[in-house]
Amino acid sequence: MSKSDFGLIGLAVMGQNLVLNVESRGFQVSVYNRTTSVTDQFIAANPDKNLVGAQSLEEFVQSLATPRKIQIMVKAGGPVDAVIESLIPLLDQDDIIIDGGNTLYTDTERREKYLSEKGFRFIGAGVSGGEEGALKGPSIMPGGPASTWAIMQPIFESISAKVDGVPCVTHIGEGGAGHFVKMVHNGIEYGDMQLICEAYNIFKAAGFSNEEQAAIFADWNAGDLESYLIEITANIFKQKDAETGKDIVDLIVDKAGQKGTGRWTVMGSVEQAVPFSTIAGSVEARILSSMRDQRKLASGILQGPDNWNFDLGSLSKEELVKKVRNALYSSKIVSYAQGLDLIAKVGKEKNWGLNLGAIARIWRGGCIIRARFLNHITEAYETDANLTNLMLAPFFTKVLNSGQQDWREVVALAATNGIPVPSFGGSLSYYDAYRAERVPANLLQAQRDFFGAHTYERIDKPEGEFFHTEDWPELID
Ligand code: 6PG
Repeated sequence: MSKSDFGLIGLAVMGQNLVLNVESRGFQVSVYNRTTSVTDQFIAANPDKNLVGAQSLEEFVQSLATPRKIQIMVKAGGPVDAVIESLIPLLDQDDIIIDGGNTLYTDTERREKYLSEKGFRFIGAGVSGGEEGALKGPSIMPGGPASTWAIMQPIFESISAKVDGVPCVTHIGEGGAGHFVKMVHNGIEYGDMQLICEAYNIFKAAGFSNEEQAAIFADWNAGDLESYLIEITANIFKQKDAETGKDIVDLIVDKAGQKGTGRWTVMGSVEQAVPFSTIAGSVEARILSSMRDQRKLASGILQGPDNWNFDLGSLSKEELVKKVRNALYSSKIVSYAQGLDLIAKVGKEKNWGLNLGAIARIWRGGCIIRARFLNHITEAYETDANLTNLMLAPFFTKVLNSGQQDWREVVALAATNGIPVPSFGGSLSYYDAYRAERVPANLLQAQRDFFGAHTYERIDKPEGEFFHTEDWPELID
């Protein structure tokens, strides 16, 4: 039998769909799963495909053409290390292992070093797009040596999503760059989802039906906000429950799950001192949602407006929709500005030579955050590769300047009516702080100097000269 072009370990849904995707592009694929009955079922379910189902890891490795290209699709963490360890004795020098899971990028860096010392090649590749993306074309974010990328390029390009004929994959950079960028992608995904949920919460509280909301999101999807997440939201509002005939969205418990990539992104932003209010707000919102029992208890104790039925006053429904749209669009720009800021900062520190325009380009298709809006981000970085902040790119400045008043009104309306808007509000505060010529840190510096002699600079003295006040007034006991 001829040797396979590609091998995949881990036949959960993502793994199975990736295999079918690779095979459909004319490659022979070998598969291995620890529970071999899963392999048997998969092969039996795909009788006409050019697949090799291996019963043992030895058989799997032997079935592959060299240099072997083996993608691992198992749970991030220990299972990836375990698979790598069991592969090592079976591989030849220069064989390639690809980790396609949602792995923490520092683990990828450790594994790459470990494997390269042994003479093997390793690629940490973020793969986005869920089950359907894996099957029809995901967005792929591979990191690792450029020479290894060159070997993988034909397969990755053929299986990835395409937008205007351009594959949604590019070599992100050395080491853990691919998994790092995928992690931030997921953080941005959390932000996008939360912004949509905040819009929904306001609409719901203002008395809009699910049907009306389906129409609003469908309408938004026909304009500048066109994106996968807005589109699926419109469809979610149309879905009825088979059992009760009710709208499914109303039957789903308001407790959000999370696997951790959003949290990792926020932790990364704190480590790097990058302001991250939109995405941090989205992670907090998920955590608070999961504290359902406490929320139920507190709802009967802590007072505030009844946030399920507010009066629009003189505002028409159409005006509210327009204002919320502008609040969402502006907050989204802030979210991407913060996410890209983190990517740029870590990329510089790690010397990854990241191309932010190319990253936005490969997010246009295949992945969960795919959106029309990403074209403008690519353009912004193509015009100025060293853009200080996305908000300062002329296209986005214009959107923000024209939407900022509505954004404020929506945040104020939400606060007045007791509707939590951590990501709308956090984004607006970032916007206002970023554009503020003066912030209250003069007082903060005085406080630091008062209690800790931490010193301060003066506006009337050259920058870099530090002063301490010896005689701050004593406290009276
Ligand atoms: C993707 C997604 C995916 C992620 C899920 C669930 O890009 O295809 O980001 O990788 O695992 O969306 O993530 P949470 O469970 O953390 O919401």
